[in-house]
Amino acid sequence: MSSPDPQFNAQGKHKAVQAMFAEIAPTYDRLNHLLSANIDKRWRRLVGKKLEDVLRRPDALVLDLCCGTADLTLELSQQAPQARVIGCDFCHPMLVLGLKKIPSQAALIEGDALHLPVASNTVDAVTNAFGLRNLENVEGGLSEIYRVLKPTGRVAILEFSHPVVPLLRTAFRFYFTKILPQIGGLISGSRQAYSYLPESVSHFPDQKRLAEIMTKVGFTDVSYINLSAGIAALHLGTKR
Ligand SMILES: C[S@@+](CC[C@H](N)C(=O)[O-])C[C@H]1O[C@@H](n2cnc3c(N)ncnc32)[C@H](O)[C@@H]1O
Repeated sequence: MSSPDPQFNAQGKHKAVQAMFAEIAPTYDRLNHLLSANIDKRWRRLVGKKLEDVLRRPDALVLDLCCGTADLTLELSQQAPQARVIGCDFCHPMLVLGLKKIPSQAALIEGDALHLPVASNTVDAVTNAFGLRNLENVEGGLSEIYRVLKPTGRVAILEFSHPVVPLLRTAFRFYFTKILPQIGGLISGSRQAYSYLPESVSHFPDQKRLAEIMTKVGFTDVSYINLSAGIAALHLGTKR
C-alpha cells in the first residue's frame, strides 16, 4: 500500500479532513451503505439501543459528534422522538445534506469536536460514529466529550477497529486496502479519501488501547463490544 499522504498526519490534519469530506459529501451516504453492505445501519442502531435508558428520559439532551450527513442523529431521533438530539460537525456540505434528513425536534450545529461550542456539564449523552479517528488528537477529543457531559453522562464511540479473527483480518485487510479504494474512488471521484480510510484505521488505537485512553481521560465503566468480529467496535463509558 502507498504511504499515507503527509497532509493527513496529525499536524494540519484538520483542514485536509474537512476538505476531503466536503469533496465526497454528495456520494458519502450511498458509498457507506454500498461498501458495508448496509451493515453500518445495524451498527448505528445498536448505539441507540445501548443508550436506551438515557434516550428514554423525557428531557434527554444528546450530542451526536462528527455527525456528518446525520445518519446517527436521525437514528437516535427515531428511537427517542421526545429527546433533543443535536448533531455537530465541522464540514458544512455534510451538514447541508444532513439537514434534509432530520426531523424537526433534532438540530445540527457547525463546530469543531476539539473545541465544542457547548457549555460544560450540560449533555446527557455524547455519540460519535466514525469521527474520532479523524481528529488531530484522539485524547483531546475524548477530553472535550468528557467536559460537555453531565456527571453520570454517557459516551458511545462507534469506530472501525481491528478484526479479532486472524483469517477475517487478512481477508478484510485485502478488501479494505485493495477493493474499497477502487470502488470508493470510482464513485466519489476521490481515490485519496478511500485510501485514507484504511490508512487512518490502521493508525487508530485498537479496542483495548482506546478503552485505556477513555479511562485515562476520566471515564468509568469503560467497555467495548466488537462488531462483525472487530471490524468495528462500540466503546461505552460514563462520566464520574
Ligand atoms: C466518516 S464521517 C462520519 C459521519 C457520521 N457520523 C456517520 O456515521 O456516517 C466523519 C465526520 O467527522 C467529521 N469531522 C472530522 N473531524 C472533525 C472535527 N475536528 N470536528 C467536527 N467534525 C469533524 C467530518 O467532517 C465527517 O463528517
